[in-house]
Amino acid sequence: MSDWTKSDWRAKPRIQMPDYTDAAALNAVEAQLSKYPPLVFAGEARRLKAHLADAGRGNAFLLQGGDCAEAFEQFSADGIRDTFKVMLQMAMVLTYGAKVPVIKLGRMAGQFAKPRSAPTETVDGVELPSYRGDIINELDFTPEARIPDPKKMLQAYTQAAATLNLLRAFSTGGFADMNMVHSWTLGFADGNGAEKYREIAARIQDSIDFMAAAGIDGDTTHEFSSVEFYTSHESLLLEYEEALTRIDSTSGKWLAGSGHMIWIGDRTRQPDGAHVDFARGVQNPIGLKCGPSMTTDDLKVLMSKLNPENEAGRLTLIARFGAGNVGEHLPRLINTVREEGAEVVWVCDAMHGNTIKSSTGYKTRPFDSVLREVREFFGVHQAEGTIPGGVHFEMTGQDVTECTGGVRAVTDEDLSDRYHTACDPRLNASQSLELAFLVAEELSNLRATRSAARAAG
Ligand code: PEP
Ligand code: CO
Repeated sequence: MSDWTKSDWRAKPRIQMPDYTDAAALNAVEAQLSKYPPLVFAGEARRLKAHLADAGRGNAFLLQGGDCAEAFEQFSADGIRDTFKVMLQMAMVLTYGAKVPVIKLGRMAGQFAKPRSAPTETVDGVELPSYRGDIINELDFTPEARIPDPKKMLQAYTQAAATLNLLRAFSTGGFADMNMVHSWTLGFADGNGAEKYREIAARIQDSIDFMAAAGIDGDTTHEFSSVEFYTSHESLLLEYEEALTRIDSTSGKWLAGSGHMIWIGDRTRQPDGAHVDFARGVQNPIGLKCGPSMTTDDLKVLMSKLNPENEAGRLTLIARFGAGNVGEHLPRLINTVREEGAEVVWVCDAMHGNTIKSSTGYKTRPFDSVLREVREFFGVHQAEGTIPGGVHFEMTGQDVTECTGGVRAVTDEDLSDRYHTACDPRLNASQSLELAFLVAEELSNLRATRSAARAAG
């Protein structure tokens, strides 16, 4: 995009971003970050885009997942390992259901800044600015903690770099061997209440045994022992994004170097706003959250701004309407995409429309609502003859109690046991894997109906 530069967003209306009070400190941080190496490279972002183009055609399926907000205090090698592990397990189960490659995309290595529903928060009559994620301010409820501090961007960069380094090592270092991944999954399926998942787990085992007998295994076959793993986050704090944006020397195009995919949140997708302007100029794959307030006119304008050349894989529409609302909103947006002849990947974020307050006072999400939204999403695509391209979850490999339900049922009363999220409630490892089994079931039902329809037609 020849008429665009990475600082153009500064002239546009911005919301959900901090007002830094110390301009000199902010400039110093931006100057420093601008000299640091980008975290991801253009060839990788283009490869992800090609995979997403496949997902848009039904030849791949996207699994996007990770923390609502990464936090400095919870940063640990074990935490990264466990989320990576559960995503591989989910991907294996989904691959089995979809019979296409699953694209693994973490909400990781950059998912720090959070949009908030209100600019301030009041506790016991005291009003303070809202917490906006560790890259901006601190969760503690004190006036000092809530002051935005630009230096936090440097700590976020360091954490993101270390996270990516570990993810890259896990992806090729033997950790991703299919036999190993499946042995973890068997542990889950053997558990009480997981009977219904045993059959799929056994069939996956059969396939692995068959391939091993045919001489295809981790020792002989690269695909069996390594994975591609990509990173993504909401592109919210534009000073950070701009500082990591560079011209890629191979293509001469701009690349947001902060993550492979960046997305625009449901609160910051104003067609003339700063966030859309920033995303429009970089070559990365772009996600766009679509909530109930997305109008068909907005979607039209956004598609033409974000993907003027209608490039496949460039734009992923992440629907997050809430269980019970998908039938009202998804068909009208699918229709707009159809009318425009637009190339998009449809993904279901089954988390952000399903947040409630539990009877015990915690922000939670019932497993059943998450599952119901996924099923409604598949149902609409089935009825419209369009392609469900992926799923998006807030999840962790840790054994937290933040969402209720699942085979190892978490109750309202259990929420206080291990409620660790700095922001929204996440599915724990067991809930995530269970959901993968259920999505795999949806995918294989869809495949069965479509091939029956083809045979009949
Ligand atoms: C998020 O993905 O964490 C988020 C804030 O989502 P949304 O913009 O869809 O509300
Ligand atoms: Co969230």
